[in-house]
Amino acid sequence: MSSHVSLSRYLVEEQRLHGKIPAQLRLLLEVVARACKGISHAVNKGALGDVMGSAGSENVQGEVQKKLDIIANEVLIEANEWGGHLAAMASEEMDSIYVVPNRYPQGEYLLLFDPLDGSSNIDVNVSIGTIFSVLQKPDGNSAVTEKDFLQAGAKQVAAGYCVYGPQTMLVLTVGDGVVMFTLDREQGSFVLTQEKVQIPEDTQEFAINMSNMRHWAAPVKRYVDECLQGQEGVRGKNFNMRWIASMVADVHRILMRGGIFMYPWDQREPNKPGKLRLMYEANPMSWLIEQAGGAATNGHERILNIQPAQLHERVSVILGSKNEVERVTTYHRS
Ligand code: AHG
Ligand code: MN
Ligand code: MN
Repeated sequence: MSSHVSLSRYLVEEQRLHGKIPAQLRLLLEVVARACKGISHAVNKGALGDVMGSAGSENVQGEVQKKLDIIANEVLIEANEWGGHLAAMASEEMDSIYVVPNRYPQGEYLLLFDPLDGSSNIDVNVSIGTIFSVLQKPDGNSAVTEKDFLQAGAKQVAAGYCVYGPQTMLVLTVGDGVVMFTLDREQGSFVLTQEKVQIPEDTQEFAINMSNMRHWAAPVKRYVDECLQGQEGVRGKNFNMRWIASMVADVHRILMRGGIFMYPWDQREPNKPGKLRLMYEANPMSWLIEQAGGAATNGHERILNIQPAQLHERVSVILGSKNEVERVTTYHRS
């Protein structure tokens, strides 16, 4: 493909060549991309657009909402509710599902999103993003309910994220590899800039919030201890560390050059399986990582095989370069 393939052209050609993107799904992905352009615009305005700081409210998970969390959520809902491609949406920032209002036709897809990932980075001008996951409504005719969303990640029909960094990039999979688009601000369109993204199987770079070390489970501590021993230790090589505190930005780095990302269960809140949310953070990212040749587990099983019991369910996340993820998973099993 030439370097000037737009998102629209990619979606049309992908359908023509592989039959992966029916018209409604194509519309859905174009609308999500348009919404991300709007969010990118708001992010770029920063203090000039009155988008910084706290909104003074909390979401269902007890987290303080930033103004931009709410703005991004509204942009995604308003863009997606009228096109006829969706039955309902679910978001980190909404307690329960948002059913497409009666005044609009209902489509066959379900959209889940983390409208603004990396909220703690908004006010300090560090990369943030939007994560999304698309499912099919299981039963064509009945009224849509929350139960329809509770499908394992392996059932996703599209997934991706948009990172608002030095460049705004949309990263997507429809189950035919991972493709990356860069926003051309003059043209106002996403242009294909990388296809067939592949993560190296080995890495010397790990990402974890080290301040939680004393709370980790033994297998995670063992893995990181061995990395820290460097060349003289059992791994026989030195490791580098990165932690951006925006999953989108950490995963983007891993897709570009490999690495392992962990937000594991820890003892701070022993009854929660982890911090990150299964359905709109871990599932879409895990599918992208697998599609690029990497792996994603919760330490025990493939994340994409987990049957969700709740919309806002949390999960322990270990993802990235295959051999490293397998090593950490083996440590959990032994
Ligand atoms: P969100 O802003 O959507 O709540 O997600 C933030 C997540 C994730 O992006 C990041 O990896 C992690 O929280 C950072 O957590 P710590 O601040 O505990 O490092
Ligand atoms: Mn998030
Ligand atoms: Mn968020």
